[in-house]
Amino acid sequence: TPMILTLMLLAYLLGSISSAVLISKLFRLPDPRTTGSNNPGATNVLRSGGKLPAALVLLFDILKGTIPVWGSYFLGIEPIYLGLIGICACLGHIYPLFFGFKGGKAVATALGTMMPIGLDLTGLLLATWVLVLAISGYSSLAAIITVGLAPVFTWFIKPMYTLPVLMLSVLIIARHHQNITRLLRGNESRVWDKDNNLK
Ligand code: G3P
Repeated sequence: TPMILTLMLLAYLLGSISSAVLISKLFRLPDPRTTGSNNPGATNVLRSGGKLPAALVLLFDILKGTIPVWGSYFLGIEPIYLGLIGICACLGHIYPLFFGFKGGKAVATALGTMMPIGLDLTGLLLATWVLVLAISGYSSLAAIITVGLAPVFTWFIKPMYTLPVLMLSVLIIARHHQNITRLLRGNESRVWDKDNNLK
């Protein structure tokens, strides 16, 4: 329907705002697309600029997922279409219209789209992410395991959202193929160095 297509377009446009690039500019940090992992996301801004700009990027990118999905939910849109709207937000982040279609991996945005499902799911996802990050030091591994478990958690919490969440998970994990190769080869970069300092 025109309403759903409009919401999908709006979600894509909002997702297309690369907060990592904009916030890096604001803080006079190197462009995240050409430094560190070359990925415009909170993890890479943490590497280049530390906690405050990274936290702002994380928050902004989460909201890019939460706002369109939550808004659409209150408009009475059905779960499967909420999933499509969430995917559009992530596709905006990954292939941003305003930034030459070169975006990030949409971990924060995907988590943002899943948060309206419930505080219980949100808590489980955040706990998984923090735990894997604390144990391994790999932001990518934390993201892959968290989104991998998301459909399982959703199945137990709100089964009707399992398929939309699964679609998101597949997209995010596929987007991490280079990280997966590096993890398997043992040359993925950690968020912390060996002395436990922020990189
Ligand atoms: O959350 C993004 C993370 O999964 C990968 O980021 O910069 O280490 O490739 P990066």
